[in-house]
Amino acid sequence: MLKETLLNATEAGAAVLQHYFNSKNLQISHKEGINNLVTEADHASEKAILDSIRESFPDHFILSEETGEIVMDSEYKWIIDPIDGTINYAHGIPICCVSIGLEQSGKMIMGAVYNPFLKEFYFAEAGKGAMLNSQQIAVSTETEVLKSCLVTGFPYTYLNQPNGPLEAFGRFIRAGIPVRRLGSAAMDLCWVAAGRFDGFYEHKLQAWDSAAGFLIVEEAGGKVTDFTGAYYSPHQPQIVATNGKIHDELLKWINDQI
Ligand code: IPD
Ligand code: CA
Ligand code: CA
Ligand code: CA
Repeated sequence: MLKETLLNATEAGAAVLQHYFNSKNLQISHKEGINNLVTEADHASEKAILDSIRESFPDHFILSEETGEIVMDSEYKWIIDPIDGTINYAHGIPICCVSIGLEQSGKMIMGAVYNPFLKEFYFAEAGKGAMLNSQQIAVSTETEVLKSCLVTGFPYTYLNQPNGPLEAFGRFIRAGIPVRRLGSAAMDLCWVAAGRFDGFYEHKLQAWDSAAGFLIVEEAGGKVTDFTGAYYSPHQPQIVATNGKIHDELLKWINDQI
């Protein structure tokens, strides 16, 4: 039943698509800050997911971007991003997804990410591998950062700290290393899991951006840590997710130790 509930990411994705194709009148509101948007599709997707969790598991803890915490005394915590890539979505750019992660006693046990435009459904269960639709997926085999295709994202604040996101980005670009910026951290992670990117890093994410995607990368054979190389928790900001083979070298590039 837990797994069936994660599969509901596709129903939430259908709501996201429906609003997209009726997008002439898409309601967009601004949260704190200039580019911190939320659309009616984020709310529709979130409602579909929360309704299904509360129906099946009324006593589970929920953390969801637009609603916040629904605090329950439970070992299970659902971590939800109803649309990851809202700015893309609001501009009609079809790079975005629904992300649902499930923790049990502080450990990620299942994750689902669905891009309704590409019809790509990523799913992982701890210890059981990672899938894209009906295919098992695996990370790439690249061994050198200089030959890698990387992806990153930028926060809207926090850019001016020493050795921040712009400095790290500059190092890669000056060295001629391709670094993409999709605008959806969950997609970035899934595309590392599928072997499309060799590595992803970002300085400041929220738990709902990475909870599901981080398990999907690990289950596809990749490695996920913070910038020091320590065990990754979605409840802290920094993330480095790679195929494992370039991980230590990528950490050096990010930390300006090359
Ligand atoms: C954003 C995306 C983006 C990342 C931002 C997030 P949202 O999530 O994941 O890639 O760079 O930090 O806020 O707001 O579209 O759900
Ligand atoms: Ca947001
Ligand atoms: Ca997000
Ligand atoms: Ca979001």
